[in-house]
Amino acid sequence: MTHILVAVAWPYANGPRHIGHIAGFAVPSDIFARYQRMKGNEVLMVSGTDEHGTPILVQAEKEGMSPEALSLKYHKVITEDLRDLGMSYDIFTRTRTETHREAVQELFRSALRNGYVYLSEQKVAISPSTGRTLPDRYIEGTCPFCGAEDARGDQCDECGKELDPTDLLNPRSKIDGSTPIFTSKEHYFLDLPALKPCLEKWLEGCRGWRGPVMAFAKSLLKDPRPRAITRDIDWGVPLPEGPFGSDPSKRFYVWFDALVGYLSSCLEWSLREGREGEWEKWWKDGAESYYFMGKDNITFHTEIWPAVLMASGGVKEGDSPSRFGKLSLPSKVVASGFMTMKGAKFSSSRGVVVYLRDLLKICQPDAVRYFIASCGPEKEDADFSFEELERKVNGELVASWGNLVNRVCTLIYKNWGEIPDPEGLDPRGEDLLKSTLEGFGEVGGLIGENRLHEALSKAMRLAGDVNRYLSESEPWKKGEGEQKKILFAAAQGVCDINVMLSPFLPFSSPEVFSLLALPSSSSLPKTRKVEEGGEEWSEICGPYECGSWARRELCIGAKVPKPRPLFKKFEAPSEA
Ligand code: MF3
Ligand code: ZN
Repeated sequence: MTHILVAVAWPYANGPRHIGHIAGFAVPSDIFARYQRMKGNEVLMVSGTDEHGTPILVQAEKEGMSPEALSLKYHKVITEDLRDLGMSYDIFTRTRTETHREAVQELFRSALRNGYVYLSEQKVAISPSTGRTLPDRYIEGTCPFCGAEDARGDQCDECGKELDPTDLLNPRSKIDGSTPIFTSKEHYFLDLPALKPCLEKWLEGCRGWRGPVMAFAKSLLKDPRPRAITRDIDWGVPLPEGPFGSDPSKRFYVWFDALVGYLSSCLEWSLREGREGEWEKWWKDGAESYYFMGKDNITFHTEIWPAVLMASGGVKEGDSPSRFGKLSLPSKVVASGFMTMKGAKFSSSRGVVVYLRDLLKICQPDAVRYFIASCGPEKEDADFSFEELERKVNGELVASWGNLVNRVCTLIYKNWGEIPDPEGLDPRGEDLLKSTLEGFGEVGGLIGENRLHEALSKAMRLAGDVNRYLSESEPWKKGEGEQKKILFAAAQGVCDINVMLSPFLPFSSPEVFSLLALPSSSSLPKTRKVEEGGEEWSEICGPYECGSWARRELCIGAKVPKPRPLFKKFEAPSEA
């Protein structure tokens, strides 16, 4: 039994989630977490909304709201989006909690004390028209690395490199197109060059990462530069009071703040569940941690976050850890590609978008999950289309799996009304159940390695085997004794596959167990109301009964209910 932290990227609270988001961080992390729970590991799956930074300010301005009101509004929307997709977070919180603010300040203080954070001059952009500082995201220009023309002052989405606004060629203000003026201001910096050897050593020891993610992480470490972790803005976690004084005109950079969420959400979970101090089990001695995100977040998880953990935990003689002690570094950064639509990146601002809540109105959540697990952007970018969704859902989920379940359960229900006693199996039935039993190791191994496409297709191949066994054995031509043997083997096969599919299909798998007269429990997320600082909001919470990753023996003689179809056919909306 291992303690496994499933750390899922924090969505910005600046709008509802679209397919691109959930294909990147959501579905892959949830399937992994559910599987690990079934394996008997102690999983803590955490995340929340990322409420600070310029993405929130930009949207608040657009909607004519305060950033507080805007982030609260979208926290609610996103929480519902993710709950309705079946995301089994042990806690899904937010970055505007007291616990979070204190954790950010504490990690900062200890990194400063250990000498990995220092005060220095940073060139910042000033808008010539207003005289105010222009946040990184409000500056656009040409990327010095890849030549993309719409790189932002913090990052180039095209090549994924992090940038400073001063790196951009032909910088211009996003607000009025004017050329910003750069002046020097004092800011706190994270000393990445000083941590380079430790970062390299940590990466060397990491195993099982996707090739391109590891290659990118290594390339980032070739020539790391100090990174400013504060900004001249008034929206974000304030600097702590301390011997160095606090500076009310600055806030922490949103990424420094959000990454600490992985820790603060665990602290919050401990508080909420009344399990004081238990968060430590996921951060120390042999705990493993898996971080899930889209590929535009790799830099922050393979470079900045491990650096913050090292800086605050201490790495050299004389360093002293923060009050949280020395914390474990990421075991694996699981980054996926982008989901595109007609070849273009999903983008709310450009109107290339399918919102999850809209999709869930016309498509069952298990079908959405199935689609993403089977052809989402696991290693490479993948294109979304309603036609492809329809093909996958109707052609595979409904036609292969749903129909198989229905066929087997209906025959059993009509013939006997209970699980029949096979009195031994025929040789083909024996073989079939041998291969479904072996499926646990194969499918499980693949999920454990985050290879969901292969895991799902392996499970679906087994479903095909059961289907073939049933058709070729022609039970309808046989006497009752043989019929019982065939249907029993088919039903046990269905049951095995249903266990393997349950991380993928948490909504329908309990129903399949009921159809097979086995007890079932729901493992769907709930929300609970929370109040703090005069605001009320909802948090996603567990606990989750995911069952075990092992064969569940059918119970001979148990009464089966009348089957009804599990899945609805999906109909692609006609193009607007
Ligand atoms: N909000 C960021 C994004 O949507 C992700 C933050 S991940 C975190 O790209 F863990 F750092 F919070
Ligand atoms: Zn670039």
